[in-house]
Amino acid sequence: TVEKLRELKLRENEVLKMGGEDAVRKHQEKGKLTARERLFHLFDPGTFQELDALVTHRCTHFGMEDTFIPADGVITGHGLVDGRPVFAYAQDFTARGGSLGEMHAKKITKVQDLALKAGAPVVGMNDSGGARIQEGVDALAGFGEIFTRNADASGVIPQICAIMGPTAGGAVYSPGMMDWVFMVKDSSYMFITGPDVIRSVTGEVIDFESLGGAMTHAVKSGVAHFAVDSDMAAIEGIRELLTYFPSNNMEDPPVKDLGDDPFRVEPALDSLIPDAANAAYDVRTLIKLLADGGEMFETQPLFAPNIVTGFVRMNGRSTGVIANQPAVMAGCLDIDASDKAARFIRFCDAFNIPLITIADVPGFLPGSSQEWGGIIRHGAKLLWSYVEATVPKILLITRKAYGGAYIAMSSKHLGADMVFAWPTAEIAVMGAEGAANIIHRREIREAPDPARTRREKKEAYEALFSNPYIAASRGYVDAVIQPSETRPRIIGALEALGSKRVQKPARKHGNIPL
Ligand code: COA
Repeated sequence: TVEKLRELKLRENEVLKMGGEDAVRKHQEKGKLTARERLFHLFDPGTFQELDALVTHRCTHFGMEDTFIPADGVITGHGLVDGRPVFAYAQDFTARGGSLGEMHAKKITKVQDLALKAGAPVVGMNDSGGARIQEGVDALAGFGEIFTRNADASGVIPQICAIMGPTAGGAVYSPGMMDWVFMVKDSSYMFITGPDVIRSVTGEVIDFESLGGAMTHAVKSGVAHFAVDSDMAAIEGIRELLTYFPSNNMEDPPVKDLGDDPFRVEPALDSLIPDAANAAYDVRTLIKLLADGGEMFETQPLFAPNIVTGFVRMNGRSTGVIANQPAVMAGCLDIDASDKAARFIRFCDAFNIPLITIADVPGFLPGSSQEWGGIIRHGAKLLWSYVEATVPKILLITRKAYGGAYIAMSSKHLGADMVFAWPTAEIAVMGAEGAANIIHRREIREAPDPARTRREKKEAYEALFSNPYIAASRGYVDAVIQPSETRPRIIGALEALGSKRVQKPARKHGNIPL
């Protein structure tokens, strides 16, 4: 018996060495944590339990029959995050570049299957040279099996990925299908084809970082939701993000009491809106004044900053916020803002997280690049997502709510359950100046003093429409409220709607414009 117990220890020790001392040292010298360290820090102390540590590949090509790859290059298992079960895998770059072969992929899909059955989130940590070249189509098959599970698990369990090293070719599509992607600056990249292939095919010269580094994906492509400074920062971010989510779509999000008074009146909000119509303010100040403890977990902060999305708690309940950002492009909606907000809304709806929308929007961004880029199809996703969402939907209009953008931003007409407006709200087809120029064009042109006539007509339009009262008289706004009282009003509405139920006709799925 002693012999047999010792054999297990020996086998385990072989695996625990990962790619060997030299490879581990080389890895750590790059400022990276090892796959085992990453999992250790992800889970509550002492809760990680490894699975499939003894799995080995069965490739016999190119001398692989003599090659031992510890844990086949990926560590998998489960543990607790903030006391709740989570499944995870971390690719081990020290073991043959964390390359993905048949058995490596099987270890990942096993964890995905278990997570889906258990109704627990999956966290992936990617650091890999991609498909294990020696294994050929078996490696590609492995990728396909992972993607299938990503799509099947979407909307059932939260899926989070951290890119902590190379992720190229087929490897990018698993993160691409997951809900949240973290990238570590300077040590990770993602692309379909790398700089060498690009140079030989198109002649374009570009480096790894500009092509697919963390900042590129966080700022330009929107593929990454968070660009962070270190492996540890990514892990801490994942742990915090998970506190806002239920474990699966059948549960409500966890309630966490931060000790903030739900009836808190906030006088600072009464003077938040600047007197000048075109002056900006940072909508994040407003969100933090409303939220429990002044805390917001902002998502995609660097992508489409003209719209702000993030998670807050309102009287302890996890809540998603979508807000036009007047401080960037006057808060205009454009292609990227529509995509960002639509995906956020759909995540929240899938996981029973109520929505607060804050509108201060002058319209959609004009221009041929927007039209040719398909703003109609992208903007449609935003409207669609609001209509589709059955979670409680609260709208607050602080200032401008013009035209199509007014309708798009969670208006009553798209199904908002409760619409609040501040007295500073202006709900109209367009701004007063533009409106006066169009409907009084001839009078202004023929007037003895066109500038004065234009001003008079603008003021007349303003007096009629630049307020929330016509919308309130139709019931499109449920209540015009003092800004200082916004927090208790929103919390009251969210609590009233806590047991909201919606029945929609059965269908296979809608055909959302993509
Ligand atoms: N298949 C098999 N082995 C791979 C691999 C892959 N896709 N990617 C990396 N490895 C192995 C390397 O052969 C090397 O093995 P060794 O330690 O036995 O020498 C080890 O992983 C480390 O790779 P190395 O190239 O030394 O690391 P690096 O940090 O210098 O470079 C990459 C990293 C990802 C840029 C480089 O490994 C690479 O280009 N890999 C191939 C990428 C690819 O084309 N993948 C297939 C398409 S999805």
